[in-house]
Amino acid sequence: MTKVTKNNKSQENPFNPSFGEMPHSFLGREDIIENIRVAFENNLNDPYRTVLFSGMRGIGKTIILEKIAEISLEFGFVSVNITAGNSMVNDLFDQLFERTQHILSKKRKIKSFSIKQFSIEFFNDDETLGFRTRLERVLSKLNDLDIGLLITIDEIYKTAPGLPDIIIAYQHYKRERRKIALMLAGLPKNVSDILSDSEETKNFTFLRRAERVILKNIDIAEIEQLYFSFFNESGKKLSSEDAQFMAEATKGYPFMIQLVGFYVWRTSHHIVSTIDINEGIAKAKERLGVLVFAASLNDISEKDLSFLKAMAAFELPVATSDIQAKMGVSHGYVQQYRLRLLETEMIYSPSYGKLDFSIPYLKEYLL
Ligand SMILES: Nc1ncnc2c1ncn2[C@@H]1O[C@H](COP(=O)(O)OP(=O)(O)OP(=O)(O)O)[C@@H](O)[C@H]1O
Ligand SMILES: [Mg+2]
Repeated sequence: MTKVTKNNKSQENPFNPSFGEMPHSFLGREDIIENIRVAFENNLNDPYRTVLFSGMRGIGKTIILEKIAEISLEFGFVSVNITAGNSMVNDLFDQLFERTQHILSKKRKIKSFSIKQFSIEFFNDDETLGFRTRLERVLSKLNDLDIGLLITIDEIYKTAPGLPDIIIAYQHYKRERRKIALMLAGLPKNVSDILSDSEETKNFTFLRRAERVILKNIDIAEIEQLYFSFFNESGKKLSSEDAQFMAEATKGYPFMIQLVGFYVWRTSHHIVSTIDINEGIAKAKERLGVLVFAASLNDISEKDLSFLKAMAAFELPVATSDIQAKMGVSHGYVQQYRLRLLETEMIYSPSYGKLDFSIPYLKEYLL
């Protein structure tokens, strides 16, 4: 038998700086989760049955979808969790069949060897049928057993193949008062594209009435509390001042919570020293650059990038007029890029005519 020893450096690091992986330390989001629980619990028409999440990279979109999928199980839903892309519709059916088999076998007390045969008969799927009919056949059988269906779609963008089919079908099922829920998540620009008026988005008008949640940073006090308890309870002595210092270094950005925690944990022994903390934070910033900034800056144009670089040269927040002067461009030009970048939520306007970066340490990275 293995004995769990405290004060042991080999103890598993409780922080996980990986995209899309549920952390041991899920913080914040209480309001959203409460609203969603209520929606699952009792009301088919509750607006939180259909939610559109947006937020910048590393803010926790994938994780919140995962959390909601977990919660939905408690309320008797099957959840199908897909990522927008070419194989979206196939993925949806594959998961649907796989996940319902388990539930059905429990409900009907079927022996494991005959589940596959049973579910083939149960679903009676026919790939030649249209999407809406095909899904409806499964959905109605699930609903007959009082099982709901939650579909989550991550990384949405307006031209994702199959997305219009899913949205149209969903809208139809809602009208029929089916036990169903839909949660979507995407980068701010992609979500605003989906909601904008155009030929490509004509099938998405329904989503304009969906509940919208813009994911924000986590409260610093909560992060401080987390660091203090996680470190001390695992035999790594951390003072409350140092926990606060580390929490402030994350600026509340979820990915940075994991990065700072992970690297300070890895660097330190029984007593977490100032040197460990500084080293851990430095390493966290470096990883943030590689994993987040490089990807985010890849998404934008050269001109957007020169705007951001001009911004980074100033004390923040900076006046738009200062950026214009530095870049030596027209008022119209600067306004156009300002709007485009505001849409990406990489920057925001803290007060009239001023701009600042939303992602911590992006300024330093750009210099
Ligand atoms: N509520 C939270 N509390 C603590 N850590 C979180 C929370 N939400 C997300 N994280 C952590 O932040 C990191 C990024 O989360 P996630 O992968 O969900 O981001 P994302 O918004 O989907 O990013 P991307 O746009 O790049 O896909 C992960 O390491 C995750 O563990
Ligand atoms: Mg994600």
